[in-house]
Amino acid sequence: MTCVLDEKINKKLEKVFNELGFDSKYATVKNSDRPDLSDFQCNGALALAKIEKKNPRQIGEMIAAKLSEDADFAKVSVDGPGFLNITLKDETIAALMDEIAQDERFGCAKVATPKTIVMDYGGPNVAKEMHVGHLRSGVIGESMRRIEEFVGNKPISDVHFGDWGTPIGMILAEVIAHDGNLNKMESYDIAEITAFYKKANIRCKEDEKAKETARIITAKFQDGDAEYTKAWKHIRKVSVDAVKENYKELGVHFDLWLGESDAHKTCFEIKKIAEEKGLLEFDDGAYIIRLDEGNKPKPPVIIEKSDGGFTYQATDIATIKMRVDDLKADEIVYFVDKRQSLHFEQVFETVEKLGIAPNVKLLHIGFGTVNGADGKPFKTRDGGVMNLSDMIKMSKEKVAESMPKAGAESGFSQEELDRLISQVAVGAIKFQDLKNNIASGYIFELDDFANFEGKTGPYIQYAVARINSVMRKNAEIKPGKIVITNQEERNLALKIAQLSNVVMRCEAEKEPSIISDYVYNLAQAFSSFYNTSPIKGAENAQIAGSRAALAKLTRDILIKLLYLLGIEAPEVMPKA
Ligand code: ARG
Repeated sequence: MTCVLDEKINKKLEKVFNELGFDSKYATVKNSDRPDLSDFQCNGALALAKIEKKNPRQIGEMIAAKLSEDADFAKVSVDGPGFLNITLKDETIAALMDEIAQDERFGCAKVATPKTIVMDYGGPNVAKEMHVGHLRSGVIGESMRRIEEFVGNKPISDVHFGDWGTPIGMILAEVIAHDGNLNKMESYDIAEITAFYKKANIRCKEDEKAKETARIITAKFQDGDAEYTKAWKHIRKVSVDAVKENYKELGVHFDLWLGESDAHKTCFEIKKIAEEKGLLEFDDGAYIIRLDEGNKPKPPVIIEKSDGGFTYQATDIATIKMRVDDLKADEIVYFVDKRQSLHFEQVFETVEKLGIAPNVKLLHIGFGTVNGADGKPFKTRDGGVMNLSDMIKMSKEKVAESMPKAGAESGFSQEELDRLISQVAVGAIKFQDLKNNIASGYIFELDDFANFEGKTGPYIQYAVARINSVMRKNAEIKPGKIVITNQEERNLALKIAQLSNVVMRCEAEKEPSIISDYVYNLAQAFSSFYNTSPIKGAENAQIAGSRAALAKLTRDILIKLLYLLGIEAPEVMPKA
């Protein structure tokens, strides 16, 4: 079942347009720009006037006269130059709410043709702690994964681990410089390996010879050197374990834990296909593919460097082939920093030239940077890179300040509180990340992101907990048939009626902020409703039951939407 209100109205309009002999493509409504005048508006009369060579108001009146006969409409009027304003009957809205309340999908539509969508997010690298950039990728990607699933697509998420390339050679070289050999390699944990990598980074910046050594080791390792491969396996394992811990805490799920290394074999195939198609050029020791000189010329793609190593680009091209061949992807979506836009443009164009992903939609959803108050990339207090674990810790400390202490007085055990603090802290970080347009960067609101008031995660979680408490207090009042008796109930119901459209738009635009905006507005609409429309103190039992039903429905939708954003909804939210 789908309960998409505007589609229902469109159908009615269409019928009237057909009866009048008007082109029904103009028979569409949108939410009214003037909610004080109407619920929906149709601007079709203006376009029709030109075709019919009539006054738009005259056309509007003709439509309005017929439409007014419909039992679902309380009022149809023509305003201004020819806008058609439509107001629904309260009974119609109430009946729709009953339908939505009965439906486990809350009347949300599904996509007409389900697609297999491979989703590439996370993208952490070996031996590096995850920073806020990896946070954004994981948070946005996970939310979109849940949304795709909800609308009926088949998402497959892949972490695309950065486990190949020069960093490996750099770490190995650094360990050899320190120990003389790789014998102790397997005793090193993630912190030690990260420290080696940091040192190697500094050394390679200053010293050309060290850089050359790392490069040679990388090439030998990629060529399958047994000792290097053994060491690499260890580095990869401890890195993946650390990353898994982080993502687990964040509630970010991956179906596949593949990495750049898994694409290595296919890179040879890519080179071969390029060669067969006459696209491969040998240039200055490297194998490259030139891209078309469009109006925005792009640099050529380097497939294989002069030392025989495949590039980041080659790996991504090969990975696309695997995702198409093995996973049967209809669509591949990358949630990666928008500073990598050129990389993806080059990769997608090369894939097109090679013909390895016919009819597959390739999409890069580029996101902006997380900044500090100074507008520069978000740093720790002492100016270092903000790691994900630091950020979670900081958020937890902040949330803990507004929670009560464990013990008899609060009625919470330390364990329960820790779990709550984690749910709220992670929710706060995620909501802050998802509340802005993805492409734009945002300033991390250190003082406000974990507030229980304002457009924050905790505010929405608190709204859910509050409805839970309302329902507990009114447990004897069973949710019943919905009736609309005042403006606040009406506003809340009309907000709920928008849900399906909101979710579908969010999926189409791959933009979770559409949901975060909506969930905030819905929580606010509930607040106004609750402040004016008592449940226990309602005029009669029917109205009380209706309000209980509206409260429950709102709560269930808020929980579902938080889930789609990747945020948990605690049953209770105690305050200090
Ligand atoms: N590991 C990369 C980085 O840290 C991100 C990977 C993004 N995904 C991809 N398929 N290129 O920059």
